[in-house]
Amino acid sequence: MDTSKLFDLKNKTAIVTGGAAGIGKASCEILAAYGAKVVVSDYNLEAAKATAKEINDNGGTAIAIDCDVTKDEALVNLVEKTVKEFGSIEILVNNVGGGGAGKESPYDIKLEQFIKVFEMNVFSMWRLCQLVAPHMKKAGYGSIVNMSSMASINKSPAISAYASSKAAINHMTRNLAFDYGPDNIRINAIGPGATKTHALSTVLTPELEKAMLKHTPIKRLGEAEDIAGAVLYFAAPISSWTSGQVIFVNGGGEQTLDM
Ligand SMILES: NC(=O)c1ccc[n+]([C@@H]2O[C@H](COP(=O)([O-])OP(=O)(O)OC[C@H]3O[C@@H](n4cnc5c(N)ncnc54)[C@H](O)[C@@H]3O)[C@@H](O)[C@H]2O)c1
Repeated sequence: MDTSKLFDLKNKTAIVTGGAAGIGKASCEILAAYGAKVVVSDYNLEAAKATAKEINDNGGTAIAIDCDVTKDEALVNLVEKTVKEFGSIEILVNNVGGGGAGKESPYDIKLEQFIKVFEMNVFSMWRLCQLVAPHMKKAGYGSIVNMSSMASINKSPAISAYASSKAAINHMTRNLAFDYGPDNIRINAIGPGATKTHALSTVLTPELEKAMLKHTPIKRLGEAEDIAGAVLYFAAPISSWTSGQVIFVNGGGEQTLDM
């Protein structure tokens, strides 16, 4: 077995949505470290530029593109600009996601808020898959990584919009694997457990962390780099016969907001 190319991303272009910070940023960094040309896309353009600069300063290749994933014209522009700049697209990390975890009581939120969560977490991912797939087919190599969550399988109060949207990502991923497989495009999802990013910091207290660790055999919460490791595995040729899968990266346990 020739092992030299299993993690080689040279001559591959990767788009990462929400790439300026958190899990997206760590994903940009690891993909660049293994040779990919990286598009750091984010609706915070200044932060995206800073991430791209860090990567370039460290010897990688990255550009920043402004993209709010909930806007169709921004997604179209992201794909067009990427192809113009780098000539091809082989990897997509559909990373942006969010919601009102812990604040989604059906007695409090409006239908519009529920719809917005699905627009951001599900519709934008599906649409970006649709836009990049022809380029991946042309390149003869495609790997799409969708960011799900442990919430996609956990059951908790006041999180039904976020959790069901993440569950939709899991099953969308399994089904799209059948559409894209014949064109050499793989699609997988990652379900992070509680991972120390800005998003988590808005809800995490020392008490909650302690409670979460009771249910976590590896006695710490996740770091963005832990999730990026799974991104690298799915993006690289080492996983060339892996598609339609959801992997949970969670310290072996589970961490919910109501512990
Ligand atoms: N952190 C966790 O504990 C955790 C757990 C499970 C799943 N996740 C998932 O991981 C993904 C990343 O989360 P994170 O914790 O790294 O978040 P984060 O808040 O640290 O970073 C999110 C990044 O996305 C950008 N962004 C937000 N909305 C955007 C939009 N509409 N268009 C473009 N860019 C946008 C932000 O500017 C930021 O750079 C999300 O899908 C989230 O649901 C996170």
